[in-house]
Amino acid sequence: MADSIDWGFWGEGPGTEALGEVTGKRVLDIGCGTGRYAAHLARAHGAHVDAIDSSATQLRRALDQYGNTRGVSFVHADAIEYAGAGAPFDVVYSVHGMGYIDPGRALPAIRDALRTGGRLVFSVLHTNAAGVGPSKNVRPRLEKVCLRGESPLPVHMWVLAPGLWEGLLFRHGFHVEGIEILAAPDAGNPVRCQLVSGVRSGPQQLPIGPKQASS
Ligand SMILES: C[S@@+](CC[C@H](N)C(=O)[O-])C[C@H]1O[C@@H](n2cnc3c(N)ncnc32)[C@H](O)[C@@H]1O
Repeated sequence: MADSIDWGFWGEGPGTEALGEVTGKRVLDIGCGTGRYAAHLARAHGAHVDAIDSSATQLRRALDQYGNTRGVSFVHADAIEYAGAGAPFDVVYSVHGMGYIDPGRALPAIRDALRTGGRLVFSVLHTNAAGVGPSKNVRPRLEKVCLRGESPLPVHMWVLAPGLWEGLLFRHGFHVEGIEILAAPDAGNPVRCQLVSGVRSGPQQLPIGPKQASS
């Protein structure tokens, strides 16, 4: 089980505290993978975590290792479809899961699944191993994911500039608390990640127009 959340690089940068208080809170893990962070939040912090992954293989690994963990429900599903069904949540987080999902689809669903004032925290790629920085427009691009013992797998990924994430969050009803760039600790490694934090804003106020003159 993990001792803390590694948003970018092992043992580096902010950890679980980036989520704020989670004790007794309802938490959604988007793309939980092997479930190590969901198990950590339930066991070490007393959170109630719905841990979702769309990969049957990953979910099987999570169940094999942490299936009996009190406070975690592992579900094999598309996390964005699940978000509405499992709502409301106090905290939604994702460690390198959001980059695989169209933000135009993910962010409105997450906003609707969060209580007002609830927090969204996620990490995504910023600069890849070839030194290519983030895209300047909201489109996915081909990236190569290296899985242990397998040849690099091409995947479509949203690798967006921090200003684009900021605008997307704002447009979908979040107040952006911060976007931190996390650099690889080893010299010469160009990889960088972003840690994005936002809070669901209150219900939108209708603009108040000038007072109608009474006739
Ligand atoms: C890079 S892995 C990260 C796994 C885990 N968060 C960790 O840090 O160990 C990304 C995960 O997101 C999952 N994923 C991608 N799109 C998803 C979606 N729409 N719904 C649920 N899981 C998704 C993948 O199956 C994969 O397990």
